[in-house]
Amino acid sequence: MKTPDSYHQVLITEHGDVDVLRWVESSPLPEPGPGQVRVRVIAASASFTDIMVRKGIYSGVDAELPYPPGYDMVGVVDALGPGVTGLALGQRVADLTVWGAYTEYMIRPAEKLVPVPDGLAAEDAVVMVLSYMTAYQMLFRSADVKPEQAVLIHGASGAVGTALAQLGRVAGLKMYGTASSAKQDYVRNLGVTPIDYKTEDFTARIMAETDGSGVDAVFDAVGVDNFKRSYSVLAPGGTLVTYGLYKASLGEDSRLGVAWPFLKMLWQMKLWDWFPEDGKRVTFYSIQSQRDEQPGWFKDDLSALFNLALEGNLDPQVWKRLPLHQAAEAQRLIEAGEVRGKIVLEVSPDTAPTGG
Ligand SMILES: NC(=O)c1ccc[n+]([C@@H]2O[C@H](COP(=O)([O-])OP(=O)(O)OC[C@H]3O[C@@H](n4cnc5c(N)ncnc54)[C@H](OP(=O)(O)O)[C@@H]3O)[C@@H](O)[C@H]2O)c1
Repeated sequence: MKTPDSYHQVLITEHGDVDVLRWVESSPLPEPGPGQVRVRVIAASASFTDIMVRKGIYSGVDAELPYPPGYDMVGVVDALGPGVTGLALGQRVADLTVWGAYTEYMIRPAEKLVPVPDGLAAEDAVVMVLSYMTAYQMLFRSADVKPEQAVLIHGASGAVGTALAQLGRVAGLKMYGTASSAKQDYVRNLGVTPIDYKTEDFTARIMAETDGSGVDAVFDAVGVDNFKRSYSVLAPGGTLVTYGLYKASLGEDSRLGVAWPFLKMLWQMKLWDWFPEDGKRVTFYSIQSQRDEQPGWFKDDLSALFNLALEGNLDPQVWKRLPLHQAAEAQRLIEAGEVRGKIVLEVSPDTAPTGG
């Protein structure tokens, strides 16, 4: 297939607000080196973590400005570098890119790519990579939940919250979730008992709902003060999985940005580690560290998620589809807290068979 000499990307020109994002034309097409693959991107997702990358408060980026954000993508193998085996031109693949996916073409290490099965639409597959994977690994690798256990999901309407709810339903969990008032019905439809955290004390409500026993696991990316309250509603032996500092990332927790809340979090987690209460456990989940430590799990778990979606056990919630050049609008909507589920950026046509 003939490919163009130039391509488009959305670049972060400097760290800051949404207007630092620029739609640019670049050339020539990047060429894959040994062990690398050029991918024509079909879909990327827009995520809250992309906003942290844009603001320069995400520590996992190893690129110099200007560069495209974009934590995940699904695309087509467009060119193979020397020595690449096991992948074919035209094959659809997925990857957790961390940065770089807001682009029409990109280079990726062949070893990181996960095949996307025929029958699964690229926009559904891309939703699995960051948000559902985070949810899946927190449920089954960090908290090791079992059927009929009770869990509390904070931010249950968000991208990760929605994924936790859908996977929790498949796993037979009893679920409670915090959400603002406009999103109560959305959360209820996911099979979660909603708690309006703005008008109700979630700790009192959980203890009332569980007859004072508490829940077996809590998933919390809100902030350190919330973590303390979440810990208090754990049943003996329960697990608190922390995975972000949402309020601090929006500049709501401290005038010192994320540094001070991050230090507070580390200190609080150490204290819980040294002096656990009733056998409770606290852990921090990071998708990037987990993949670095256990690359095999990442591929196994993503393939398992693709199969769950293919079999109709999951219903990826794509709230909005926007063309790549409207990435700034996608980030504005996420930052304003308007999204339920996920926004997918459409980059190029999905040509693989998806009628399944
Ligand atoms: N560690 C990892 O590997 C990893 C991976 C993915 C994401 N994350 C982190 O996880 C967090 C959520 O990501 P996401 O993609 O799901 O974001 P998202 O789609 O933007 O959803 C977050 C939702 O949380 C809700 N929320 C805000 N304040 C809240 C509070 N005080 N209590 C309860 N809910 C509250 C908001 O909805 P309402 O307030 O309207 O209900 C918001 O829409 C982010 O901090 C992100 O960086 C971490």
